[in-house]
Amino acid sequence: MKFGVEGLDAMISGGLPEKSICAIIGTYGTGKTTFALQFAYEGLLQGESVIFISLEEREELLRATMAQKGWDTEVFGDRFSLLRLDPTDFNLAISSIKSELPRLIRSVGASRVIIDPISLFEGLFPDSAVRRQEVFRFVEVMRDEECTLIMTSETDTANPDGSRYGLIEYLSDTVILLRYIRSERLTEVHLALEVVKMRRSPHSREIKPFEILENQITVYSEASLF
Ligand SMILES: Nc1ncnc2c1ncn2[C@@H]1O[C@H](COP(=O)(O)OP(=O)(O)OP(=O)(O)O)[C@@H](O)[C@H]1O
Ligand SMILES: [Mg+2]
Repeated sequence: MKFGVEGLDAMISGGLPEKSICAIIGTYGTGKTTFALQFAYEGLLQGESVIFISLEEREELLRATMAQKGWDTEVFGDRFSLLRLDPTDFNLAISSIKSELPRLIRSVGASRVIIDPISLFEGLFPDSAVRRQEVFRFVEVMRDEECTLIMTSETDTANPDGSRYGLIEYLSDTVILLRYIRSERLTEVHLALEVVKMRRSPHSREIKPFEILENQITVYSEASLF
């Protein structure tokens, strides 16, 4: 399942495996939502059905972002479900994600599902044992669905290589880490990407610079940071 970003697809042997789970982890503003939207849009271009669940940004804002990129998502009709869940509405958010999502996936025949960010769902469970159990169970349920899942998460403040709650990287087949890299003289900040893990598939282990320009992500897979 291609991202439609040449440099990134090259790093992961052409795309994410079908029916696999991918975590995109990075601190604020590193491009998690942008990569997630790109993955969704590529699916639509391929004729697939896509579900994008946002726990953070309003639907209109996401649609505006997509329009700004020149993407006319209206033309995909029912193949594109963009849903905003209010994570402060605890019961609704939990039941939507746990029970209604599998039903929706089947009814629209979604092959790509994105939850941006999963960390807000994880944060609904203050008790860490309960959280672990809930996230494990959710991932188990998603494994039975005929779709590829992307979950995004901010990094843990104490561990810039790990997700906020340190769970999804263990449960995912692929982990993509986004980060800032400051130049030696601290005059510039670059964005860089690495594929930390990919089960059952060869992938690049290099750290590659990328840029987010107005309407596209460019991963410089030929370039080297070091
Ligand atoms: N439409 C755009 N035009 C130009 N640059 C953009 C655009 N959208 C995003 N960017 C750049 O991409 C960066 C990443 O944005 P994005 O929202 O994808 O990050 P994020 O990791 O999801 O952040 P957060 O943790 O706040 O949700 C922004 O900080 C900005 O520099
Ligand atoms: Mg975001």
